[in-house]
Amino acid sequence: MKRIYMDYAATTPMQPEVAQAMQPYFSQRFGNPSSVHSMGQEAKDAVDEARIKVAALIACKPEEVTFTGGGTEADNQAVKGVCLANKDRGNHIITSPVEHHAVLNTCSYMKELGFDVTVVPVDEYGMVDPDSIRKSITAKTLLVSVMHANNEVGSIQPIEEIGRISRQAGIYFHVDAVQTAGHLPIDVDKLGIDLLSVSAHKLYGPKGVGMLYVRDGTRIAPLLHGGEQENGRRAGTENVPGIVGFGKAAEIALADMKEEAPRLTKYRDRLIDSIMKRMSDVYLNGHRTSRLPNNANFSFDFIEGESILMYLDAEGICASTGSACSSASSEPSHVLMALGIPVERARGSVRFSLGKWTSAEDIDKVVEALPRIVEKLRAMSPLVKERCGWINYL
Ligand SMILES: Cc1ncc(COP(=O)(O)O)c(C=O)c1O
Repeated sequence: MKRIYMDYAATTPMQPEVAQAMQPYFSQRFGNPSSVHSMGQEAKDAVDEARIKVAALIACKPEEVTFTGGGTEADNQAVKGVCLANKDRGNHIITSPVEHHAVLNTCSYMKELGFDVTVVPVDEYGMVDPDSIRKSITAKTLLVSVMHANNEVGSIQPIEEIGRISRQAGIYFHVDAVQTAGHLPIDVDKLGIDLLSVSAHKLYGPKGVGMLYVRDGTRIAPLLHGGEQENGRRAGTENVPGIVGFGKAAEIALADMKEEAPRLTKYRDRLIDSIMKRMSDVYLNGHRTSRLPNNANFSFDFIEGESILMYLDAEGICASTGSACSSASSEPSHVLMALGIPVERARGSVRFSLGKWTSAEDIDKVVEALPRIVEKLRAMSPLVKERCGWINYL
């Protein structure tokens, strides 16, 4: 059975060119970038070259890039690093309830350490109102952290406006761009961003590598103490193959972005429009237009998203109920809860995230399978029987 992968927001397959670029750094070119001999310098050159390529992705200077062990580490470093290095100036963080747990749980930890955290509300689409950020700023505010686009419902935040507000107030602005870097154009100067997180495995690079952009002059403490790697910002011998792969993936993503984003937007809209038209008691989660080109997230009344996933999987379609990181949890998604979606409806949600190898045929297959599966599940659902009466529904 041909499998249709529609979970690119969880992770992406590595491009063959990326694996190829990494290969020599596992074996022949295994040097440590800190070694002064030629083999060390060869590895250092490769890391420097990758740094230039990932910097181009967000229009920053290569020296402003710190390689990390992924998006989670970048988010942790941004929040903890800014708070700890600036605690003489204040103790207040502003964030949103739809952030990834890498930000939310880090903010909770900072609360345990005595920092204050304001979580501004979002509207029914998951959008932050920049004015609520403005109103939450106090003399003690150190950091605003708002993601570029949400990993579950795809809504794209008004980053430029939040950046302007933060800059005017003299507050650091961190953006988790894990779902957008390599997919949408990002210019950190234009958007007024001081810190930005990226993860390689969301843009067809390897897992376990990412980066934190830190604007020149930002006061930030390291998470890891040890050697002087990454300008003292991230101690430990560099993951050279991973960094080389990240660089290659960034280079390809930048070259492909102009064509890939409109192609995926077309497929996304075809999927959303077909499902909304063909089915009843279905809701689109997230903003209809200010939305990631590859994200479609639906809620279906009367049934569980998990059951839909199992039936889809049996037909070779790989989707998700939301964030891959919380899929082991039985709690409804914190993102859908923040949007004010009723618990039962939140439990009936499925996210389809498209990518490089998604074809028109794949979309057609989902549009054919999903209504059939939902109908079958609803026919078995005690909720349907309760609400509509068994006979009525049939
Ligand atoms: C928005 C967002 N932030 C952070 C992360 C964590 O990135 P990583 O898997 O590289 O730790 C993810 C991963 O799903 C994400 O979607």
